[in-house]
Amino acid sequence: MTSSPLKDLARHVEELLATVRELTSMDGALEAEPTITGKRSILSTLQKSLGSLEPEARRDAGAQLQEARRVVEEAFATRKNELAQVARSEALASDRIELGDVIVQNVRWPVDAGHPGLVASTQRSLEDVFVAMGFRVSEGPEVESDWYNFEALNIPPAHPARGLWDTFYVELGDPETVVLRTHTSPTQIHLMEDAVGSNSLPIHAVMPGRCFRRDTPDARHLATFHQIEGLVVDRGITFADLAGVIETFTRAFFGPDISSRLRPGFFPFTEPSAEFEITCTICHGEGCRTCSQTGWIELGGCGMLDPAVFDAVGIDSEVWSGFAFGFGIDRCAQMRHQIADMRALIENDVRFLRQFS
Ligand code: DAH
Repeated sequence: MTSSPLKDLARHVEELLATVRELTSMDGALEAEPTITGKRSILSTLQKSLGSLEPEARRDAGAQLQEARRVVEEAFATRKNELAQVARSEALASDRIELGDVIVQNVRWPVDAGHPGLVASTQRSLEDVFVAMGFRVSEGPEVESDWYNFEALNIPPAHPARGLWDTFYVELGDPETVVLRTHTSPTQIHLMEDAVGSNSLPIHAVMPGRCFRRDTPDARHLATFHQIEGLVVDRGITFADLAGVIETFTRAFFGPDISSRLRPGFFPFTEPSAEFEITCTICHGEGCRTCSQTGWIELGGCGMLDPAVFDAVGIDSEVWSGFAFGFGIDRCAQMRHQIADMRALIENDVRFLRQFS
């Protein structure tokens, strides 16, 4: 009787599994692969020796060998996985940089430090100008009820003036009762309600924030954009105060050679209302394509608060008067930096972003 070539198979498997367990690195594993599962392994040598067996014995031995190979290959794959994980956490650990109490993970130096985007920095400088003029900064929600975005601003349901704002509605509550705010004007209502509730009139505030309209983006419009709203409620406020604030702001923000003018306009929440224009920053008033040869660019709207708005929030318009204004922050950035196409503000092209660091 010839002894089976597989008589030591169990021992060989044990030895292979021990070798696998003792592997300590991915490099070592790759180096050992030919002798564990590859051509130079004992399993391959045994495979070749089966050729001399009778067909039936060969089939049995083949099955045994296949099972042995499966066990070894599985153990080897598992060990390789473990080693890869160890290698990954070691790499992460060596990339950690201790910065005092702060640990930054996976950063390679020199790093490209980020900076506020153009819209954010424009918003900050606008706030600075108004704070210097005695205004405080306040914010309101981006999702509003119909009451704040329209009704309290003297825009009743189905009023044709609603057509001025292409509105995104939120599917919440009754249809068309919750909106993404189309302007920052609803924040005026919140401030006035709060001031009435806490008996803290007068108000001198600016309210920056994000707004949304169902607009197709083009060179001068974005569907998500930013406005800054202004509100003054005090005793004896006149249109001259409004014009003075707009002119002071324009020169402080755009420079002494840019001025403002007010033209009659219409907004349901102000009476009288005006459109507020500034000297075209591209041609400095000479007339060019951007300003349609007029020398002026429209920035926003303004006016004296309509008594209907005071009524809506419970302020006595016999005692208090006030003005409001609102204009686009993105538009300001565009005019100050002469950006031809506003869509550059949302494309995140680093070549554009870097110019405003
Ligand atoms: N909310 C207006 C708009 O988005 C702009 C505006 C006009 C704001 C007149 C005001 C204002 O506060 O008094 O078109």
